[in-house]
Amino acid sequence: MSDKHGHKHHGKTSRDILSAEEVLKNVEIKKGDVFLDAGCGDGYISIAASKLVGEKGRVHSLDVYEKSIDSLKKEAQDEGITNINAEVADLTQKLPLEDDSIDVGIMANVMHGFAAEGEVPEVMNEIKRVIKPGGTFSLVEFRKIQSQRGPPYEIRLGPADVAEILSPYGFQIKEASEIGEYHYIVTALKK
Ligand SMILES: C[S@@+](CC[C@H](N)C(=O)[O-])C[C@H]1O[C@@H](n2cnc3c(N)ncnc32)[C@H](O)[C@@H]1O
Repeated sequence: MSDKHGHKHHGKTSRDILSAEEVLKNVEIKKGDVFLDAGCGDGYISIAASKLVGEKGRVHSLDVYEKSIDSLKKEAQDEGITNINAEVADLTQKLPLEDDSIDVGIMANVMHGFAAEGEVPEVMNEIKRVIKPGGTFSLVEFRKIQSQRGPPYEIRLGPADVAEILSPYGFQIKEASEIGEYHYIVTALKK
């Protein structure tokens, strides 16, 4: 799994250590919402979100790793889920989404890699473009503590780092909570 994306660990998932329900409990999702799971991995959060947005809603699941997208497509098909749009996409490039098209966006366990590699502006400019005013964007990250699971301590982000990443792109921090044994979530409102 070593490639130009360094720390970004294609094929990893948090499925066994962080429940999607607990993540989404901290995010306001309404029936009919358009949801973005940016860097979705195997998409276990997307699957849970697809039930919350309902038939009239839509989930866009993007990841650069084709095998993860294929596995999400298969799981969705096996479960008879038809409102997930899973697509191979590089988050450091233009996203295959319209301006102001997303009500609720999430990026779980991905941003620390972009921060370590100086790619935050490319990524956040696109996130800013696609989340609609009044919509939200949440970052889930490993807590900045020593723990066996998760990225090396040196590249972990604390909630203050996350706030610094989001604020310049028109996002106002709404809330932050610890979730599960290892993680926290910060939700920001797009002004
Ligand atoms: C640690 S995994 C997290 C997966 C999922 N969000 C979760 O929490 O289980 C990081 C994910 O980010 C994806 N990723 C890394 N760089 C990316 C990029 N430039 N564009 C899109 N996805 C990327 C990887 O392929 C991987 O699926």
